[in-house]
Amino acid sequence: MFKKKTTIKKVITRKTKKKGYQSVKGMHDVLPKDQLYWSKIRSEISNLAEYYNFNRIDTPIVEQAELFEKGVGETTDIVEKQMFTLRSGRDKLVLRPEGTAAVVRAFLEHGFSHLPQPVKLYYIGPMFRKERPQEGRFRQFHQAGFEIIGDGNDPIYDTQIILTSYRFLESLKIKNLDVQINTIGCKSCRPDYRRRLVDYYRKKDICKNCQRRLKTNPLRILDCKEEKCQEFKKNAPIILDYLCVVCKSQFESVLEYLEELDLPYSLNNHLVRGLDYYNQTVFEIFAEDFKGALASGGRYDYLTKMLGGKDTPAVGVAIGLERVIMVMKKNKVKLPAKQKPKVFFIHVGSLAKKKSLSLIEELKKSGIKIGEALGKGSLQAQLRQADKGEALLALIFGQKEAFEKSIIIRDLATGSQESVLLDKFIKEIKKKLK
Ligand code: HAM
Repeated sequence: MFKKKTTIKKVITRKTKKKGYQSVKGMHDVLPKDQLYWSKIRSEISNLAEYYNFNRIDTPIVEQAELFEKGVGETTDIVEKQMFTLRSGRDKLVLRPEGTAAVVRAFLEHGFSHLPQPVKLYYIGPMFRKERPQEGRFRQFHQAGFEIIGDGNDPIYDTQIILTSYRFLESLKIKNLDVQINTIGCKSCRPDYRRRLVDYYRKKDICKNCQRRLKTNPLRILDCKEEKCQEFKKNAPIILDYLCVVCKSQFESVLEYLEELDLPYSLNNHLVRGLDYYNQTVFEIFAEDFKGALASGGRYDYLTKMLGGKDTPAVGVAIGLERVIMVMKKNKVKLPAKQKPKVFFIHVGSLAKKKSLSLIEELKKSGIKIGEALGKGSLQAQLRQADKGEALLALIFGQKEAFEKSIIIRDLATGSQESVLLDKFIKEIKKKLK
């Protein structure tokens, strides 16, 4: 009996040990090998933001649930099923599922309507949605977003938002981009279209989800991916036939600006987006050989008012950065490799080791980047490490050098070396590196 018990215990311990702790489902570590992609993305975003005059904003990761219930919409998938909820006393808080509602909240909270309009903001940060993880769909993912808030609903801003996201993807060498665009009308023309859509779908044998959408959000039926709903889409009424004069002219202007820029686009009558705050222009940008949208956005003229502000037209986009990196990898986009140190520091003996950190600080002050293996004791082990990098010079600091206040500078290609006094060694290294 005793023997059996210990065996089970051992098995359990072994199992737990083998598995260990893992990151939470749908959430991933960004490993050092991928940081080059992230640095490139961050620098392109800030370059573009600088050029097109967007200012950076960072909002908290945790927000009131109500912000998204009101802003994104009670009957959207995001609010119905995907928010990570936290409780803090009476407050119902959530990990933000998207950035737009939060940016508008900040716009109102900090009185940005008193600033010269429009206010152009951008952000980069993690978002959280409790979705079923699959290719390109995660529970924690990062978005870069650009928002133009205020100054009427001039269609030139819609085009500038599309252009900014397009240029960003282009700057990452992502080719064959497909900008799909549609309009979903406004408060005055959309109800009529919605009625037509409901009439059309009422007698169709649509999936359960769409039957529910028919009551809550009929436009979303057009976005259904279920096989049985596809054939009905072909003959479904399209919004272009029901637009009011204002929406029609708005949409035409956006397309004209795109054409003027020679920016390719395709009209997609079924594009409706999954968040309730949109009106008029909606768009998504796709890349070849990748199923999901890399960037999505549109106009959201009613959101500011829905969140308690005054009427403030706005338009924006968010780009899914993990997806962008997946496409960059698929396209084998080359990135400039991180510059490796040209100088490798080696210490031998306890006195030299004791003085190494302050010597390295001196090198740092002079802008000389070094490689090191400070924890390794032997000269051989440190030299082996130096050989693995791209160092041209090794600095060897031993017991004798520590006493004599000197250091050996060794040319790693030829093996020749010389001893130099510490008050001259920086100058000597710089000379040799030239
Ligand atoms: P969204 O379409 O929900 O829009 O997300 C924007 C982009 O984020 C998507 O095109 C996709 O690239 C990425 N994305 C969304 N969900 C996931 C996920 N689970 N895993 C990986 N990537 C994902 C918005 O969030 C709006 N706030 C966009 C916007 C800004 N509209 C106006 N301004």
